[in-house]
Amino acid sequence: MQLIINENHQQSSEQAAKSFAKFIRQNPKAVLGFATGSTPLLLYAKLIEYYQRKELSFQSITAFNLDEYVGIAADNSHSYAYFMQKNLFSNIDILAQNCHIPNGMSTDLELECERYEHLILANKGIDIQLLGIGRNGHIGFNEPASSFEENTHIVNLSPSTLEANSKYFNNQNMPKKAITMGIASILRAKKIILLAEGDDKAKAIKASLTGEITPTMPASILQSHPNVDVYLDQAAASLL
Ligand code: GLP
Repeated sequence: MQLIINENHQQSSEQAAKSFAKFIRQNPKAVLGFATGSTPLLLYAKLIEYYQRKELSFQSITAFNLDEYVGIAADNSHSYAYFMQKNLFSNIDILAQNCHIPNGMSTDLELECERYEHLILANKGIDIQLLGIGRNGHIGFNEPASSFEENTHIVNLSPSTLEANSKYFNNQNMPKKAITMGIASILRAKKIILLAEGDDKAKAIKASLTGEITPTMPASILQSHPNVDVYLDQAAASLL
């Protein structure tokens, strides 16, 4: 694991964006795993900037997102599909058919999980998976006590996650369930980039990077992956 501690999140985002850009230039058909939340926004802005300056093309890449809420359609502004369109996909030259996000509106959610996992495997797996981290150490929507063996599956969101993410739902009822790539799916990525910003992530970062590897702290499993870069700002690194 490579740990990079920066003065601020802007620097982390720029460095992580550079790492993505370098990989895409060397591997134009890269398969990339993307994340949602506030953490990757500056990184996505940087990737858009590279594209606008004609320094990078996404035309042949394939994207898989980590997760999606259950019961929210792609055109609903609260969906992760909408988030990705708005914050990345509609601003770069990625092909629509290469943007994959679990379908939280599927009438057969179990089948949707299987379909998604098979699609990742059919694309020969993810080259670089981007991750944020929840305040309780979740990655994707793999909440504490999730099995490390799981592939894409349906989860009940924890009270801590419901509280943290309710701000995005403007007091409207937020979904209680999501589809997420499992820990096993995430660990199959050849490289993982974890970004964390702010002191509300400091405890989870300390426990995940220096504590015991345990399902009660899902991100701790990243210690077992051979190729992880962790970018932290000072606040997220403050307890290390
Ligand atoms: C969300 C997402 C995660 C994300 C995390 C942190 O619930 N499912 O993929 O990494 O929570 O979000 P934020 O970056 O807004 O702190």
